[in-house]
Amino acid sequence: MVSKAIRAEWSNQPLQTRVIFSLMAKKTALITGGSMGIGLELAKQFAAHGHDLVLVARNIDQLEAAAGKIEGKYGVSVRTISMDLADADAPPRLFDSLTADGVQIDFLVNNAGFGLGGEFVDTDIDRELDMIQVNCSALIHLTKLFLPAMLKRKEGRILNLASLAAFQAGPGHSIYYASKAFVLSFSEAIAEELRRTGVTVTALCPGPTESNFAERAGTSRSRLFTQAKVASAEDVARFGYAEMMKGTRVAIPGMQNKLMVQAQRIAPRILVNRIAGRMQDKS
Ligand SMILES: NC(=O)c1ccc[n+]([C@@H]2O[C@H](COP(=O)([O-])OP(=O)(O)OC[C@H]3O[C@@H](n4cnc5c(N)ncnc54)[C@H](OP(=O)(O)O)[C@@H]3O)[C@@H](O)[C@H]2O)c1
Repeated sequence: MVSKAIRAEWSNQPLQTRVIFSLMAKKTALITGGSMGIGLELAKQFAAHGHDLVLVARNIDQLEAAAGKIEGKYGVSVRTISMDLADADAPPRLFDSLTADGVQIDFLVNNAGFGLGGEFVDTDIDRELDMIQVNCSALIHLTKLFLPAMLKRKEGRILNLASLAAFQAGPGHSIYYASKAFVLSFSEAIAEELRRTGVTVTALCPGPTESNFAERAGTSRSRLFTQAKVASAEDVARFGYAEMMKGTRVAIPGMQNKLMVQAQRIAPRILVNRIAGRMQDKS
C-alpha cells in the first residue's frame, strides 16, 4: 500500500517528472502469441526495457523455452499461460486468472494471429471461423476486459497486430485480409474515443515478415514472400515497441510499405485487387 504522504508528495511533482518516472517504472505486458515470431521479438523489447511479461500461446514447451531465455538474459519475470484463443471463453478465463493473482496489465499486446491461403471456395470454413475468433474476437474481448483498469489509472498502452493486408482486399487470402482490416478499423476507432485519457491504441501494420506465419498459412511460396522484401521480426518489433510508446495510431514499418499504402489510396480499387491477388500466386 502506498501511504497518503507518499501519494501527496507524488501528486505535487510536476507533470513531466511524473510522466518520466511512470514510463521508467517496471510494468507488465501481456503478449498473446508471445512464444515465437513477432510476438517473441516484442516480448524481448519489453524485457529489454525492464518490464515483466505474461506470454500466452497454445504450445507450452515453446512458451517455456521463450520464457527461460528471456528471464535468463533480461532478469525480468515471465509468466506463461497455455491457452487456445480460438475458444470463445479464453479471454475471460485469462482475465479472471490474472485478476485473481493480482497481476496488473499495463501493456496489452494483441499479437496472436494466423492466416490461411487459398481461394475462398476451397478453404476450410472451420479454420476461417477460428481465424476470426483469434484475429478479431479475442482481440476485442481482451481489450474490453483490460481497458477499464487502464482508464481508471489514466495510463496504458494497447498494441494490436494489424498488417499491410489491412489496407486492401486479399484475393487468395480473403478472410485473413478482411480480419486485418477489422483490426485496423477497430484500433483507429477506439484510439480516437480514448484520446486524452492517457490510454493509447496502436495498430502495427507490418508487410511480409520472417516468422512461422507464411509456412502455417500455406503462403510461403507466394510472390509476396518470395519476391517482396521480407522484414526481420526483430526490426518489426523494435519499430512497433517504439511507436506504441509514442502513442502512434497507425504504425507502418518501412518506407516502401508506407509509400505503397499511400499509392493504394489513389489507384483504382480493381487494379489494387488484381495486384494483391497476383502477389498471393505461387512464384
Ligand atoms: N509474418 C508476417 O508476415 C506478418 C505480417 C503482418 C502481420 N502479421 C501478424 O503478426 C502477428 C504475429 O504473427 P507471426 O508472423 O509472428 O506468426 P507466428 O510466427 O506464426 O506466431 C504466431 C503466434 O501466435 C500464437 N497463436 C496462434 N494461434 C493461436 C491460438 N489459437 N491461440 C493462442 N495463440 C495462438 C502462436 O503460438 P501457438 O501456435 O503455440 O499457439 C505464436 O506464438 C499475427 O497477428 C499476424 O497476423 C504477420
